[in-house]
Amino acid sequence: MSQTASIEWWNKSLDEVGIHSMDKLVSADANWTTVLQSGRDDLARAIEMTGMKCGKDRSALEVGCGLGRMSAALADHFGRVVGVDIAPRLIEEAQRRNERSEISFEVADGVHLCPASITACDTVFSYEVFYYINAEALTTYFRDAFQLLRSGGQFVFQLNMEPVKLKTRLSFVFRKCLYACGIKHWRGWPTGAGYRRYHHSRAWLTRTLTEVGFTVEQITGPTLRQTWIVAAKP
Ligand SMILES: C[S@@+](CC[C@H](N)C(=O)[O-])C[C@H]1O[C@@H](n2cnc3c(N)ncnc32)[C@H](O)[C@@H]1O
Repeated sequence: MSQTASIEWWNKSLDEVGIHSMDKLVSADANWTTVLQSGRDDLARAIEMTGMKCGKDRSALEVGCGLGRMSAALADHFGRVVGVDIAPRLIEEAQRRNERSEISFEVADGVHLCPASITACDTVFSYEVFYYINAEALTTYFRDAFQLLRSGGQFVFQLNMEPVKLKTRLSFVFRKCLYACGIKHWRGWPTGAGYRRYHHSRAWLTRTLTEVGFTVEQITGPTLRQTWIVAAKP
């Protein structure tokens, strides 16, 4: 998916679907308080699964923060949180809704992770983002995450590692047809062109993260859909 199509798709997801577009398990009539609580619940499960190091003396970068649902939850556990996202519309909305001075949001260029407001951090975190990114772009993100992390820092992210089945591929085509007929969302997601899920295998993740310099500590989850990867910078 081209970067422009991806940005357009995510910008549209807010305008056409609403604040629950960040997580399709959040109900369609959810208010912001419910969305924030869903972030806290998701992060609690992530901490339990990964044993992610937390502390008010630590700083975290969230990649693909969207509206800041998870950044707000991270701020309960970290002293400083920076959220970056490729969709300017989402960042604008995240900034408007943010009430905490220890959190800030920035638009990312989608090529590099180089936030203007921090030059180093203790944790790079991402949830429900990296399977939208192809292997080449993700490799660059892995290198940048390694550069940003302090020694002993952690790279913690979730991936949907389910194989992309024929049924899923057909649903991409079906969505395109719906959009052409004027139906702008289906099953909670925008139907416009631009969506694509990539499958990154365990072998590819281990090899690429190791080549970048990380020690891979975990690639497991309760389901393939919710696989958690933990990599440490020695
Ligand atoms: C499903 S939403 C998840 C948002 C947030 N992590 C959460 O759980 O609430 C996926 C987010 O990833 C962002 N995204 C997609 N591709 C990206 C990229 N290459 N770099 C940074 N963010 C990206 C989208 O704009 C969107 O906000």
